[in-house]
This record gives sequence, structure tokens and C-alpha cells, in this order.
Amino acid sequence: MTVDSDAVTSTVRISDFVLGLPKCEMHLHLDGTLEPSMKLDLARRNNIEIPQSTTAQIRESFRFHDLPTFLAVHYSNMNVLWTSRDYEDLAYSYLQISAQQNVRHTEMFFDPQLHTSRGVPFPDIVNGYRRAIVRARIDFGMSAELIMCFLRDYTAEYAMATLMEALPYKDWIIGVGLDSDELDHPPAEFSEVFARARSEGFLVTMHCDVDQVDSAEHIRQAIADLHSNRIDHGLNVLDDPDLVIAAREKGLGFTVCPLGYGTHPCGMAPELERIHAMLEAGLKVSVGSDDPPYFGGYLAENLQACIDVGGFTEAELVTISRNAFETAWVSERRRVELLEELDDYARRHGLPA
Ligand code: ADE
Ligand code: ZN
Repeated sequence: MTVDSDAVTSTVRISDFVLGLPKCEMHLHLDGTLEPSMKLDLARRNNIEIPQSTTAQIRESFRFHDLPTFLAVHYSNMNVLWTSRDYEDLAYSYLQISAQQNVRHTEMFFDPQLHTSRGVPFPDIVNGYRRAIVRARIDFGMSAELIMCFLRDYTAEYAMATLMEALPYKDWIIGVGLDSDELDHPPAEFSEVFARARSEGFLVTMHCDVDQVDSAEHIRQAIADLHSNRIDHGLNVLDDPDLVIAAREKGLGFTVCPLGYGTHPCGMAPELERIHAMLEAGLKVSVGSDDPPYFGGYLAENLQACIDVGGFTEAELVTISRNAFETAWVSERRRVELLEELDDYARRHGLPA
């Protein structure tokens, strides 16, 4: 299985500092890491007819202007994924690229309903991803976990059924999340599912995408009613000072995705200003790459955008990595190990550890 050469480097020049920084990624959709070259390979391997015959044509088909149009393009690419080997190859490829960018720990979303709804057996998905994680641990010394997301535009009953299917795989899935189209699908719709997930020992996170209808209310529900341990995106926390206080007091993590905001009508810069304000308000902001082939880069490219477009300093990037390690769902032993690596790196670059 090959990986697009432009997948790793894109057109952005990544500084040595950004590349070498010990990183932690917690906002990454495995289903959203399908590179054009892999789509072609999988279509051939599985005898699936697709409308494109070159990687350039596939990349050209990645056209969208908001969350629903993005999701439509992304979901239409899922029909090349069928076997547990496909899922293993998909995840291993992402882990390999991430290891090259010195990602030391990653927590990866997967959306089983994108596949079980087409007839792919749940165990094939999880077994494939799990094999990739074990191989990455051996090959690259990196740690990785799975977070199972429910599609919020499907019903709460379907989410609950998916949770039940996941119970035998509890040891391999660290937490549950909520993603897909947020319009008319507040977190509260899934309160029973998340309560059950928590009682089964899963940690909880959920998408509160940027500038959706009722964004701040969705964040409030996630924090106060569903007891979310982290929020994915969540930039609208700034709309309500009481929410900022509540999030800061809880030490709640926010996983933001700069390149993904490049498709917003005003571009990425205003969103980077908001991220900066979140950091200044003492919120535990970390950076992720969301769906790299669609948004133009992996974690290093996203961090480089913080510097190039947002004017972030190297010290602020160290803070972002520290926030990530502090809010990651790792054992305390692993956390100490990762933070020591980061402190050592900061010291070697003359930055506060
Ligand atoms: N699925 C993949 N990426 C997503 C995003 N940014 N928001 C909601 N659902 C998603
Ligand atoms: Zn996301």
C-alpha cells in the first residue's frame, strides 16, 4: 500500500522546531485519513468502481465549503473500505506519517456507523485498527488509542446499539465521542447513550463545531449535562464568559484544528485569533489535524499554520503540546514520560520547561 508523496509534505515548509517538537494528537478521524493513493489502491483491491482513475482526479473531487458539504465528500469515499486489512492499512499509514512528525501519542476517532451501515462487520473494523496500533507501538515506539464516535445525524437508538456492539472491545476503545452534522443535533439528544458509556468506563468527548446554530449551548450541555472530559473544536466557548470559567476550573481540554478552519468564509486567521484568546484565558487547548487529506496537512502542518498565519511563538507551541499531554487519556506513568520528553526539548531550545 503506497502513500501519496504530497500527503506528507504538502506545500508548507515545516520548520525543524515544529517537526522535532514531541507531539500529541487527539483530534483525528481515522476514516478521514484516506489519501487519494490509498483510495485508488483499495478500489482496485476490492473491485470497487469509483468515478476517478488518478490521484489528481480524486484530490480534485475534495471540494466543499462548509461542514455538511465536507461530510458529503468524505462519506462518499468510504465505500472502498471493506476488510479488516483495509482498516489496518488505513490506520498504519496515518501512524507512520505521524511518527515521522514525532507524534508520540495519538487518540484516534473512528466512526463505525459509516461502515456497519454498509454491511461491514464491527469486529473487522476494530480488529484492523487494533493491529495497526500494536504494529506502530513496535515499529515507532508511539502509543495510540481509539475513540469511537457516534454519528449525531443518526438516531440515539442506533448510537446505543453501536455502544452495545463495542462492549466486548472495551479494552481497546478508550472513549466515545460525537461527530458529524451538528444542525438540530445537540449533545442532549444523546444523553442516555453517554450516561451508559460512562457507566461502562468509557471516557467522553464530543464535537462542538465552530459557529454552528446554538454552538455555545451545545458546549454548555457537553460540559454541564453530559460531563464531557474534553471538547472537540469548541471555539464558541468564548461567547459565554461563564463557560470559560467552568471549562478552566475543570481543566477541560479543547482539541482545535487550524487547517480545517481554512474553509470558513473568512479563512483561518480569525479562528487562530480565537484559539490564541482561548490559550490566553488559560484553557487547555491542543491542536489536531481532523481529516488531513481534505484540509491540507497532518499535525506538523497544522502547528506550522499557527506560526505562519496566527503568529504563535515557539513557546506557545510548547504550551500546546504540554496541554495535549496533560489532557491525554494516558496512564500517569506514560504522562510523566511524555512531559519529560517535552521539557527536555524545550530546555534544549532555550524555552521555559
Ligand atoms: N467528521 C469528520 N470530521 C468532522 C468534523 N470536523 N466535524 C464533525 N464531524 C466530522
Ligand atoms: Zn473532527
